[in-house]
This record gives sequence, structure tokens and C-alpha cells, in this order.
Amino acid sequence: MLLKTTEEQEAFRAKVREFAETEIKPLAFTLDQENRFPDEVVRKMGKMGWLGVPYPKKYGGMGLDMISYAIAVEELSRVDGGVGVVLSAHVSLGSWPIFAYGTEEQKQKYLAPLARGEKLGAFGLTEVNAGSDAGGTETTAVLDGDHYILNGEKIFITNAGKADTYIVFAVTTPDIGTHGISAFIVEKGWAGFEFGDHYDKMGIRSSATAELMFNDVKVPKENLLGKEGDGFKIAMSTLDGGRIGIAAQALGIAQGAFESALGYSKEREQFGKLICQQQNIAFKLADMATKLRASRFLVYSAAELKQNHEPYGMEAAMAKQYASDCGLEIVNDALQIYGGSGYIKGMDVERFYRDAKICTIYEGTNEIQKVVIASHIIGRMAR
Ligand code: CAA
Repeated sequence: MLLKTTEEQEAFRAKVREFAETEIKPLAFTLDQENRFPDEVVRKMGKMGWLGVPYPKKYGGMGLDMISYAIAVEELSRVDGGVGVVLSAHVSLGSWPIFAYGTEEQKQKYLAPLARGEKLGAFGLTEVNAGSDAGGTETTAVLDGDHYILNGEKIFITNAGKADTYIVFAVTTPDIGTHGISAFIVEKGWAGFEFGDHYDKMGIRSSATAELMFNDVKVPKENLLGKEGDGFKIAMSTLDGGRIGIAAQALGIAQGAFESALGYSKEREQFGKLICQQQNIAFKLADMATKLRASRFLVYSAAELKQNHEPYGMEAAMAKQYASDCGLEIVNDALQIYGGSGYIKGMDVERFYRDAKICTIYEGTNEIQKVVIASHIIGRMAR
């Protein structure tokens, strides 16, 4: 069980932190205000290999471990939670299903350019009637000769429009529930595949989120991922790993807010002394630091289990739920420490406050995380 990160992991953290401080921080407020995706930043991250952190070198990745990947998401999110989720959605959701379930041909064709950072990936599961109930998927894929014909709509898709490849879930056999769902690799640009407008979100506004629309899209048979009917299990196992990324994102946002508030508390004087020297604020800072440390242990230990090919679904759900719930408390305390100054646009704590909320919602609401955790503890249960 992990108690300390390695020198290599910390050296990698230092590199990502420096990049985030110099290349992202100066842009973060503008990206947020303009609801703008940082194309150039993502291109540079790709060139440095970070879009393939945990994948083997033979598939174009960096060949680093899962903790290093969590550290990358954490450090980007410490400055801009939107950039953090761009990486998380690409690595965990857009690339991992191909790594885990793809044929050698699919890995060479799709995973390698994703891991090399030449292409961006996304994951299309959520629909209007299939949010928490992911098994309620209504998008259909009907086999017609050498192609499946894909019809339907996906909502709230991270990296939509910016990504080149999409893992899309659709019903291939109706009326048999989750066993009738299959997964496909779908390319941007195919006839009938269109995007909705980018949502005007509350936070993580530097990430692109939009709807996917499929209107008689011809998907070659060889782009089926796994076997027909494997889709739900592919989605669920992908989300097990994705939740480590979201936990790391929540941790990073909270860390950024904490450091900012700590710095402010060491400068701001009231009643003749620094506010950090006043017990009310000092105790808040102590609680925030403790929550961060506990969250970090949960996130890295889930990542370590995944790295070691041990079961990690429950631990990933715990990390995601705990780090994001604590994250909300921490950004709230950070803004409280700033007082009125933190409520003003342009202050990073104001942005962190808005960015943190989504982590309790996406990749499974925190209520769904409890369903997952409880299922591991007491077996599948009625909800
Ligand atoms: N790994 C592999 N298989 C799994 C699994 C897992 N983690 N979890 C479930 N399964 C299998 C079960 O074993 C079962 O198989 P059998 O029928 O063969 O026994 C099958 O899947 C169905 O399982 P359940 O009956 O438990 O499924 P359910 O319909 O009751 O749903 C759920 C379970 C946990 C609630 C699931 O629907 C869920 O995770 N919902 C949340 C969806 C979610 O997280 N969406 C996020 C969208 S992506 C996103 O948010 C990205 C972003 O923006 C960045």
C-alpha cells in the first residue's frame, strides 16, 4: 500500500506544475470568461507525451504509471480544472477502452495517435434518458452488411467537437437490457455525425462540452469494440478508471484553492494581526490540509491498485466521492477566507469554487458512487 510517491513521480509532478504555472495560469481567467478551449495548450501537452502518460511506449505512450497520470490531472487542475478534465476524458475515457478491449489493429490505428498526442479522444455514453441509469441507452446501431448504422444523440460529452475519435455506446440488440449494448469507435467527420453548440457551463469552462448527433452514420464493422453486447461492461469498467481521473481533478482544484487562501491569509491583516494567526482561520486551514491529505491517499492508492492489476472499482468510487465532496468544502472555505474579495470575478478562488462542483456530478454522481461502493461491500442491491 502506497505511503509515499517516488522521486520519479515527484520529478514528473514538477514538470507538469511548471508547465501549468507558465503556460496555463496566465490564460486561465480568459479561457473561463470566453468559454474557450485551449487548443494550443492541448497541442503542447500532446507534444510532451502527456496525452499518453500511462500507455506503453509501443502504443505511443510515455509508459509511466497510473499515479503519475493522476498527478498530471491533479497538477493541471490545480491551475485550471477545465484543462484537467480535457486530459482525464482523453486518457481514461477516450483511450483506455481501446487499450483494454481493442484488437491489435484498433490499437495501432486509434490508440497510438491518441497516446502520441496527435489526436484527441472522447466518450459518448450519457443520453437524455440515460444519465445515472446508463443502461437506459436509446442510441441504436443496426448491422447492415459491412457497417452498423448509428442513430441517436448523446449529451454532456467532454471534448465534443475537439476530439477526433469517440467511444460511442449503442443498442445492438433491443429488449435484453444492458447485455444488448455495444461499443464503437467513431471518427469525427463521418457523414451524419454532427455536434451541438458548446454548453455555457457554470465551471470548467476551458473544457469543451457538447451534444453528439448521429443520423444514419455508417460505422465499419471493424470499429466494433469488443464483441456485440460487451458495451455496458466496457462502459462500466472504463468509468471505474475514469473516476480516478475525476478524483485527481477534484483534488487538484481543491489544492489550488487551498494554496491561494493560505497565501492570502498570510498577507491579510484584521484586528491588528494576520488572519492566519487567528484561530478561526488557522483551524479552517488545518481542516483543509487534512482533507487534502486524506483525499490524496485515496486517489493515489486507487491508482496504485489499478497499476498493479488488482481490483480497484470500489476504491476508485471512494476516491471520487470523497475527494469531490471534500473538494467542495475546501473551495467553500477558501472563498470564505478571502471574504468579499474572493467573490469578485478574476479571483482564482471564484473560478475554483465554480469548477469544483462538477466533480460531484459527472462520471457518476456521488450518489451513484455510494451505490457502487455499497454493491462491493454487500453485493448487488436494489436501489
Ligand atoms: N465492471 C464490469 N462490469 C460491470 C461493472 C463494472 N464496474 N459494473 C457492473 N457491471 C456489469 C454487472 O456485472 C452486470 O453484468 P451481468 O448482467 O452479466 O451480471 C451488468 O454490468 C449490469 O450491472 P448492474 O445491474 O449493476 O447495472 P445497473 O443498470 O444497475 O447500473 C450503475 C449500475 C452502477 C448504477 C451504472 O448504471 C452506473 O455506473 N451509472 C452511472 C453512469 C455514469 O457514471 N455516467 C458517467 C458518464 S461519463 C462522464 O460523465 C464523463 C465526463 O463528462 C467527463
